[in-house]
Amino acid sequence: MALWEADEVREGGGARSAQRTMAPLADDGDIRLDRSLRPTYLADYLGQSRVKDNLAVLIDATKARGEALDHLLLSGPPGLGKTTLAGIVANELDVAFRISSGPAIERAGDLAAILTNLERGDVLFIDEIHRLNRAVEEVLYPAMEDFSLDIVIGKGPAARTLRLDIAPFTLIGATTRTGLLTGPLRDRFGISFRLDYYTEAELTDIVVRSAGLLDIAIDSYAATEIARRSRGTPRLANRLLKRVRDFAEVRAHGVIDLKVAKDALVFFEVDSLGLDSMDNKILDILTLTFAGAPVGLNTLSSALGEDADTLEDVYEPYLLQQGLIKRTPKGRVATQRAFEHRGLPFSPPADAGQIQIEGV
Ligand SMILES: Nc1ncnc2c1ncn2[C@@H]1O[C@H](COP(=O)(O)OP(=O)(O)O)[C@@H](O)[C@H]1O
Ligand SMILES: [Mg+2]
Repeated sequence: MALWEADEVREGGGARSAQRTMAPLADDGDIRLDRSLRPTYLADYLGQSRVKDNLAVLIDATKARGEALDHLLLSGPPGLGKTTLAGIVANELDVAFRISSGPAIERAGDLAAILTNLERGDVLFIDEIHRLNRAVEEVLYPAMEDFSLDIVIGKGPAARTLRLDIAPFTLIGATTRTGLLTGPLRDRFGISFRLDYYTEAELTDIVVRSAGLLDIAIDSYAATEIARRSRGTPRLANRLLKRVRDFAEVRAHGVIDLKVAKDALVFFEVDSLGLDSMDNKILDILTLTFAGAPVGLNTLSSALGEDADTLEDVYEPYLLQQGLIKRTPKGRVATQRAFEHRGLPFSPPADAGQIQIEGV
């Protein structure tokens, strides 16, 4: 079985982010790199131990019973390993892995064709599943629930519905945000996991593993430095490793130690928290333009010229996790840490809930 045979969709915003070192979405170069570094079994999938432990039990039970695994929903920001994990599940179950995506399945008939071609136990992976259209989603419901398709034959009063059985299969859906899924679709997944940002130690392990696969000489201090600036995201850790390697080849005879890593990161303008230029623009708007006052999502979106959904799914989670911004009922607010990160004095406005004492 070929694991990564189908073409993957480039994620939204990929074209624009192609030039940016720390943009979280995948560009074409990433898709090739992702493929070459992708772990194929659970044992090589580093970090996410809670998800892995749960999955290992489910996979064993499924194999023992000889049935299809329950439908599985994977959510989390881009680059954290959703596609990778879906492939691993198929591999561990020793079944075929079919890849599609929400935007690629345009008509109900497209999905029906995919479903009727599945064999017993196969994994069907639908990336960006929140982007399926309504008509397609409706075909999916009976397929997920009863492994059947309802096909309408004829038109008008003579129309009849024919029920067709399909092979029991496992649907794995991936989404950046479960909140964007319709209720009925979400309810049909028996299992749901959310992937979290990786710790520095986990990312260090990933950098060391990738360096081994790419035959890159790197010491552990340099690996940790790259990990620290990777925005909690394996895809970015791999991308940075590759850029630092290129730098090292030209400037340092190819060996990556801490000094080379640091010089390279300065050269590529990756900041100490691994923030992208978009992240820093968000912080500038909150700290400078609005001087720490709450800013609504739509205001932020028009100020940045970036889609509100992308802001919410891709950029905000990491800034929230890092304690750089806060969500308040009135809007997004920069924290003290954000002011410090941008090298600005912290001056919370009176209406941000802080008491200001005259003369202090
Ligand atoms: N847990 C992990 N261990 C090792 N490498 C990982 C892990 N998760 C992701 N990666 C690396 O990051 C890349 C991007 O992961 P991917 O599954 O494409 O993310 P997503 O589908 O969530 O956007 C993979 O190709 C792989 O090289
Ligand atoms: Mg993916």
